[in-house]
Amino acid sequence: MLKRTHYCGDLRAENIGKQVTLCGWVWHGRDHGGVIFIDIRDRSGHSQLVFDPTENPDLMSRANELRSEFCIGITGTVRRRPEGTENPKMPTGQIEILVDSLFVFSEAETPPVQVDDHVDVGEDVRLKYRFLDMRRPKMRNTILFRSQAANIVRNYFSQHGFVEVETPVLSKSTPEGARDFLVPSRITPGEFFALPQSPQLYKQLCMIGGLDRYFQIVKCFRDEDQRKDRQPEFTQIDVEMSFITPEDIYAIMEGLVKTLWKDLLNVDVQIPFPRMNYWESMERFGIDRPDVRFAMELRDISDIGKESEFKVFRSVVENGGKISGICVKGGASFSRKEIDDLTAEVAIFGAKGLAWMKVTEKGLESNIVKFFSEGLQQKLMERYQAEAGDLLLFVADEKTIVYASLAHLRLHIAEKLKLFDPNENQFLWVVDFPMFEKDDQGNPTPLHHPFTSPYTEDLDLLETDPLKIRSLAYDMVLNGTEIGGGSIRIHRRDVQSRVFKVLGIDEEKAQEKFGFLMDAFRFGAPPHGGLAFGFDRLIMLMLREPNIREVIVFPKNQRAQAVMEGAPSLVDEDQLKDLGLR
Ligand code: AMO
Ligand code: AMP
Repeated sequence: MLKRTHYCGDLRAENIGKQVTLCGWVWHGRDHGGVIFIDIRDRSGHSQLVFDPTENPDLMSRANELRSEFCIGITGTVRRRPEGTENPKMPTGQIEILVDSLFVFSEAETPPVQVDDHVDVGEDVRLKYRFLDMRRPKMRNTILFRSQAANIVRNYFSQHGFVEVETPVLSKSTPEGARDFLVPSRITPGEFFALPQSPQLYKQLCMIGGLDRYFQIVKCFRDEDQRKDRQPEFTQIDVEMSFITPEDIYAIMEGLVKTLWKDLLNVDVQIPFPRMNYWESMERFGIDRPDVRFAMELRDISDIGKESEFKVFRSVVENGGKISGICVKGGASFSRKEIDDLTAEVAIFGAKGLAWMKVTEKGLESNIVKFFSEGLQQKLMERYQAEAGDLLLFVADEKTIVYASLAHLRLHIAEKLKLFDPNENQFLWVVDFPMFEKDDQGNPTPLHHPFTSPYTEDLDLLETDPLKIRSLAYDMVLNGTEIGGGSIRIHRRDVQSRVFKVLGIDEEKAQEKFGFLMDAFRFGAPPHGGLAFGFDRLIMLMLREPNIREVIVFPKNQRAQAVMEGAPSLVDEDQLKDLGLR
């Protein structure tokens, strides 16, 4: 066996004259009038090999048989590249290796995924041959980057007194709002484990167990629809602390972000991050994860619309809805077709229309301006600080539709008009989430999860007006993506019971589902709280990848399938029988 002396990307001018052994894969090759040049590549980079018939004629026939992705080992002498052939763009561009012996560990068929950064094959082919895909420098660098990030995370939390705890994967359902993946039990037929949507209850139990500071880089499982920033199986940086306030969590997590950005990207992130109240975020951006790299904020005009003669606006306000809108700087030049396209964008979110007004030197112009008196038109202009050349766009509907459609419209137009610098980072905390929102049936459902603590001042509203209760929950947001979320938890059995009651979970049901937590609350539970970052999302944002699958070594595809292994798959009849399943 050849014993390697260096990695392929490590040789420099100071190695000139040395005898070296390299192992790696055949990358690009060139034949220059009988002299063969081959790049040999491994994890660290690549070097240029030279097979020269005047120096080593015996090697030439075998060198000629080398093909892309053959796995080889060579011994040779490092020499300076002839003048004019250096490549300053390559770390090993000063040198080349004159080969004097060659060993082929294994040959390769023509690879279905070309090992190059400019791949032009479909994603499913890349995922099926991920072991080839990850030989590409970009994918390889992502994997190395993620590994370094995990190291920094571990070091950071260890230095701050956190204990790393592994929590079970075969466990009981924890409500994070998604569907569970279930695992049937063989020993107790008919019963199921749930894969954890997060280690939420285990980390709380670790606090009750006195560990004081917990962290874990942990797999979580959620059976939900795929999106570009969602996977059924993903990784959290999960954190919990005792005897703390939200300020302590903010400081710890900001410190982690600062360290990661500095150590891995050499970017200085300014801390502390700004904070925004949930309702302020909804009113100004229509969403609880605002992208604040650009303005074009929403402004409510329900008061103006209700005074107008425009029937749609009046009736929406009379029926308890609202009207809000944005001012697109320079948007008056949009064509009818462009405005129709924007209308289609808001329709996705249930908006029944998109009202518009162009601002000209002579004032407002549109099909509905006639319904607005001079005075109301003046008020509209002032509300948006509108100037000639701008375009006002409005949606009137129920609150949730107005927020969702305008939040989307705002982002859509910002991308269309390139209103933000894609290299900027705008972090912020969104805080004071409501404890509950209405579900489809109009019943209260937790915005975060049911273990989140209400504001103590709001506790009295639990039985009377739960939707008004603020919670001690917070999310960290970067450029419009939620990187992490958490809360201060309930640590008292009576409060937890009352919250369950609001959610329609009575004593008996609470005992059945969360008995272990309710029992633990009987034995001196400390006040505690925490947060979880989406690790994949964090890496995705750090590397500015558009899609979470690019930062996961073996991700599921858009249909939640593992295409390489072929999972999910059918199983043997016998396996089902063992599990008591038909
Ligand atoms: P939450 O449900 O907000 O909180 O999840 C925390 C973070 O995990 C990431 N995330 C995901 N990433 C990829 N794919 C998914 N399907 C996915 N779902 C969530 C997000 C999110 O911000 N136990 C609580 C945390 C706590 O209260 O401490 C929890 O899991 O970045
Ligand atoms: P109509 O009265 O249906 O001709 O609509 C006049 C304008 O108002 C059109 O530009 C519609 O897109 C717009 N519109 C209709 N319903 C709404 C709504 N709920 N919110 C905002 N604009 C609307």
